[in-house]
Amino acid sequence: MSSPKKQPQKPTCKRIAVIPGDGIGQEVIPQAVKVIQASGADVEFADFDWGADRYLRDSTTVPPGGFAMLGRDFDAVLVGAFGDPRVKSNIHAKEILLGMRFQMDLYANVRPVRLLEAALCPLKGIEPKDVDFVVIRENTEGVYTDAGGVFKPGTPDEIAIQEDINTRMGVERIIRYAFEFCRTHTKLDGSPRAKVLMCDKSNAMTHAGGLWQRVFQEVSREYPQITPQHMYVDALCLQMVRDPRQFDVVVTNNMFGDIITDLAAGLQGGLGMAASGNIHPGKTSMFEPVHGSAPPIAGKNVANPFGAILTAAMMLAHLGMTREARKIEAAVLEAVRQKKTTEDVGGRLGTREAGEWVADRVSRG
Ligand code: NAI
Ligand code: MG
Repeated sequence: MSSPKKQPQKPTCKRIAVIPGDGIGQEVIPQAVKVIQASGADVEFADFDWGADRYLRDSTTVPPGGFAMLGRDFDAVLVGAFGDPRVKSNIHAKEILLGMRFQMDLYANVRPVRLLEAALCPLKGIEPKDVDFVVIRENTEGVYTDAGGVFKPGTPDEIAIQEDINTRMGVERIIRYAFEFCRTHTKLDGSPRAKVLMCDKSNAMTHAGGLWQRVFQEVSREYPQITPQHMYVDALCLQMVRDPRQFDVVVTNNMFGDIITDLAAGLQGGLGMAASGNIHPGKTSMFEPVHGSAPPIAGKNVANPFGAILTAAMMLAHLGMTREARKIEAAVLEAVRQKKTTEDVGGRLGTREAGEWVADRVSRG
């Protein structure tokens, strides 16, 4: 006789795995969780201690079956950051973070670049309406697969080879994701998104660049209403600081996406303000602030929690809780306007206090 099937108690309740990780991840993620709770979102959390402390204690980076468990038992994963000076090899960060991206096949790293207040932007005369674009970074291939090797290491004849992996399938799905994103998302002011710009270095890296170029042209033909554009990555860096108004949706490979989104974070007020999602449509996806574990400021209650809080809003929107997401974004905007922020963006509050201010605002909103 088969046992009765276990019914979930609340079928609409979303399950979130929370992995704060190392350094300031352990400070900003609790603030993000607090704000989600204040929003009234129908979610439940389960905490995981994956990170440097656990690795140093029992040599575990990811427990056996860990990624399968995340994909099976959770609707989304909220992550802080990984990186600890005590783990010189950074092996735990690689296995946990890159492992999650690669093994859960979270191929689209979506990084919105939005300026909440003019004062946060280091560029002259730039208003919030001028900075509202999204970088879609390929997240499972490129040079970050760490394919390659060294020959005769430590000798004068040493050869180091770092391969750049670009598959037709991988390039096509990320480019298509960017066009679909453009088609289905509006700007903050409600106007439609209209342009997808591919960024590469196909003039110098011709083999991979050629594939990206061909696929971009093919896919763009399926979206006649969207304007396709192209820029080499070096030119894009210049243009991003000369005139960020021109960007709408940018799609690029793993490494260029990593680099240009730190630059883009500079337009928003720094790494403490930048949010991101690691997404595979239809699968359990992972959300994390763009910043790392920032060891020099860890444990001091000074890290900006807004990148993590905006990441939480992005996660809720992804899970269909747009009302709660909007409430959180509005509260962060108000905090920035009233300078209820940490010092990196001009306020005088600590991590906890800034998180509490936003949570309080959200619960009253
Ligand atoms: P980082 O993002 O940790 O810090 C870069 C700079 O931004 C530092 O000056 C830091 O103080 C500042 N910063 C970062 N987040 C901030 C916040 N929320 N509030 C205020 N200031 C903030 O990058 P870094 O220094 O290159 O790397 C530190 C460690 O983090 C390394 O172990 C690195 O491997 C790791 N890392 C991990 C990432 C992840 O888990 N996704 C991403 C980037 C780095
Ligand atoms: Mg980075």
